[in-house]
Amino acid sequence: MNTPLPFERPVYVSRPALPPLTDYIRRLESIWASNILTNMGPMHEMLELAVGERIGSGRVSLWNNGMSALIAAVSSLQLERRKIAVTPFTFPATVHAISLLGLEPVFVDIDDTLTLDPVKLEEAVDSEVGAVMGTHVYGRFCDTAAIDAIARRNDLRVIYDGAHIFGRSAPVIGGEPHRLGDITMLSFHATKLFHSVEGGALITADQDVDRRLRLIRNFGIVNENDVKGLGLNGKMSEVHAAMGLSMLDLIDAEIDQRLAVANRYLEALEGIPGIRVVSGADGIVQYFVLRVDAEEFGSTRDDLHTTLRSLNVISRKYFSPLCSDFEPYNELPSAKHLPVARKAAQEVIALPLYGGLSLEDADRIADIVRWHQKGGVL
Ligand SMILES: Cc1ncc(COP(=O)(O)O)c(C=O)c1O
Repeated sequence: MNTPLPFERPVYVSRPALPPLTDYIRRLESIWASNILTNMGPMHEMLELAVGERIGSGRVSLWNNGMSALIAAVSSLQLERRKIAVTPFTFPATVHAISLLGLEPVFVDIDDTLTLDPVKLEEAVDSEVGAVMGTHVYGRFCDTAAIDAIARRNDLRVIYDGAHIFGRSAPVIGGEPHRLGDITMLSFHATKLFHSVEGGALITADQDVDRRLRLIRNFGIVNENDVKGLGLNGKMSEVHAAMGLSMLDLIDAEIDQRLAVANRYLEALEGIPGIRVVSGADGIVQYFVLRVDAEEFGSTRDDLHTTLRSLNVISRKYFSPLCSDFEPYNELPSAKHLPVARKAAQEVIALPLYGGLSLEDADRIADIVRWHQKGGVL
């Protein structure tokens, strides 16, 4: 195999899909005509309805981003117990949402699915733990049935960080209520399969929780004369909601294109020793993620990452380091022994995946992985 040529321009791990500008401008014209820019205007209301229809269950509230939505979710549960069991294999936002509210995260190890291990969860629950937060990593659901059973036995509330799930898998929520937990968060950040530039949503089947969330979203304001409880400004603006509406028209085409790229990767990576595809191959196309078994592959994930980057392929180590290793958390007793998560964090690497990535470029990227495995040195 010849030494691969570097890509002329960086190929990032994801690239936002964008609607035709004319379509977005049409929606902006309607905003200009209404003169309503925020505070749950017509675009906001339309998107909230449309997202709800796609999900098919629960009550949906839109938020200005996933992180503020998560903070509101934790706050809305009004927990008396001060600890929340949480996965370390996630984005910092999940754990920060606990700590920013003065609660304490208790890290629980994951299993081979890269989501919370229900057995370890049950072991970690004591009288101080009042809730659990799991992340549907790369869009693959936690074992929500097992977590639901543990929550019932131990009187826990359940929040899911579903930042990655909105796509074709989201409607599945409709059929199985335990999939939602008490609240599920979605992120509509520009790096996600579906986006509103910045944005997010919360889904809950509980009418009281939904009511509280809507109060928190708007400073706790009940009416002109009354504020109830603490709140923040979590509102999605009209220009963001307009982008979300335009993107909803594109989401299925984006999924199809990503599936084609993911399938091409699968073919092109076939037979490379030490490589296991853990996401992107099963219709879930938020990320295309490999696990690298250093012994079998003959090289570490980090070396592969360096090679890819040297050739302008901007792979990402999602999620590495573990959240439990970051400075705010690494002194916690629960941060010390997380062997399954630690191994995963050493092995995962996300390759570029987005609708606009050509099949030829997917082949080139896979060729770099193969060339590196065969001992190629730059
Ligand atoms: C798992 C996870 N949780 C939370 C977030 C935060 O969402 P947002 O960027 O919308 O605040 C992200 C990414 O952005 C994420 O990947």
